[in-house]
Amino acid sequence: MTPTTRPFLPPSFSLLLFLLFITLSLNLNTQSVYAQSPTLRRRSAYTLYNNQFYIQGGILSGVNTGSNEFNSLNLAAAWPTIAAPWTTLPAGKQGWHHAMVAIEPKFSAGIGSGTQGYILSIGGTPAVGQGFWSAFDIQTKQWKNVSVEAADISLVPYVELQGHTATVDPTTGLVYVIGGYDGLNSNALLPEVTNLLTVYDPNTGKLLSQERATTDNSLTGANAIWSTERGTVMLLGGSRAVVTVSVVGLDMSILTEYSPSKKTWTSMGRFPKPV
Ligand SMILES: *[C@@H]1O[C@H](CO)[C@@H](O)[C@H](O)[C@H]1NC(C)=O
Repeated sequence: MTPTTRPFLPPSFSLLLFLLFITLSLNLNTQSVYAQSPTLRRRSAYTLYNNQFYIQGGILSGVNTGSNEFNSLNLAAAWPTIAAPWTTLPAGKQGWHHAMVAIEPKFSAGIGSGTQGYILSIGGTPAVGQGFWSAFDIQTKQWKNVSVEAADISLVPYVELQGHTATVDPTTGLVYVIGGYDGLNSNALLPEVTNLLTVYDPNTGKLLSQERATTDNSLTGANAIWSTERGTVMLLGGSRAVVTVSVVGLDMSILTEYSPSKKTWTSMGRFPKPV
């Protein structure tokens, strides 16, 4: 009788497979155990760039201390819910209530010669003097303070601003910083109202314009995005920042539009109620 031929793997090959299996499962395990999850915190700044979600700084949970932590999450990869692919990046400045935007390399000559673009951090508290503008070079993975000159001597670049929001025009690279307040500068026209709109040009490293807010149009904690369709800034929510008692959320059903070409602010009216 002919011997039954059973598929039989030589031990060396089975061993190889086994080792491969162990290695793979260890890798998965390593990911879930050692994924560099961000430390719990609030009032961090965030931005999106090239499929990466970046968050930096904030107030540490439970203690009123600033964090300097900087994290990125790869949005291009699929991940198991227990192992989001977070990466801890070199720490930035320690603070919170700041804003971040991404600057593409074609617009970043005024910041540096990095070829992969920059994550630009703006303001925040505590006031950090020189570090008011700082940038993370994606290529060298290093932070640096950015010096910003005013394009016009009538402009006085502020040293303290918090609670602002920022967005970038992707066709020019210009950065629009909206709202915010300055709780420290008692010389400000209105004690806590500093800013309505600042335009920064990363191509030249210059501050192009700065408008002061009034009691009625001051804004803090708002949300801004750039509309590529309309070439304008769209703003939603936030509150007035005149005095602490004015901190009341604004009507979230009203969208405000700022047009850089016309330099006008308009209300786009109320969203239709969902049916
Ligand atoms: C930026 O400036 C601040 C204040 O002078 C300083 O403490 C900080 O180390 C500087 N950051 C970098 C990355 O050089």
